[in-house]
Amino acid sequence: MASRTGPGPFYPIRRGAGSVAPLTVIAQLSDPHVDVGPGDTGSSAALAAAVGAVLRLDPAPDAVLVSGDLTNRSDARSYERVRELLAPLRMPVHVLPGNHDDREALRSWFTDDPVAGAHAAPFQYALRCRDVRLVVCDTTVPGRDDGRLDAGSLAWLERELAAEPTVPTIVAMHHPPLLTGIAAMDAIGLPEADRAGLADLLGRCPQVRRVVAGHVHRACFALLGGACAVFACPSTHLQVRWDPSGRAIALEPAPPSYALHTVLAGGDVVTLVQPVRSGAGRPAPA
Ligand SMILES: [Fe+2]
Ligand SMILES: [Fe+2]
Repeated sequence: MASRTGPGPFYPIRRGAGSVAPLTVIAQLSDPHVDVGPGDTGSSAALAAAVGAVLRLDPAPDAVLVSGDLTNRSDARSYERVRELLAPLRMPVHVLPGNHDDREALRSWFTDDPVAGAHAAPFQYALRCRDVRLVVCDTTVPGRDDGRLDAGSLAWLERELAAEPTVPTIVAMHHPPLLTGIAAMDAIGLPEADRAGLADLLGRCPQVRRVVAGHVHRACFALLGGACAVFACPSTHLQVRWDPSGRAIALEPAPPSYALHTVLAGGDVVTLVQPVRSGAGRPAPA
């Protein structure tokens, strides 16, 4: 057993033990709600801290996904600030719209993602990131806070999944296809029929190893259709208080966090929730 007093690792592994490389790692930042207007509560500093945390990861993730609500008011100055704050990331950065975003603004400010379609069309696309496929859906409805994954969106997703049915795939969207048990949050989620439609589709697409989302400003996990794992990512800024029956969403300054989706050899995905600021002291070994 290794010494627990020196600077070295607690349990150095012998050659050949542990998980099997290669790995693909996607970092997920969510709901930064950047706002450069009056009343901002520190959203820019919070996103800068999250970006700094990702930059300190060794090895660096292969890509970063920002799962919506990039800005709070979808104004040009805020999108410009988001671009500035994300610029230090050296890996590809992919974005998707949340209910606080504007599709056209995303098209203007984030031109690297292979988004097809004309103005006002859904901001949706698919791409390959090393060993995993990332399929990005648009669950937003302009002018509304709740989301939809209607027949047209599901048909597009079905075509995309049919194109590469054997490649491990992560499906990303803003509104998660789960119920949080927080009534005020679930009131602006995806309707039951849309969640059922997605469950039916993914039940026929075993290559989808994870659905990842944002919107709920808390780490949430559930199974969709009893099979596919759904994860909702905490916010880089403010978190939603766990209040099952409150009549309104309440925010609280709980620790900002982000997620790491690690695709293991064979395609299994493990999701780690990472606090932006690591605590002082050294934790006890597991
Ligand atoms: Fe949000
Ligand atoms: Fe949202």
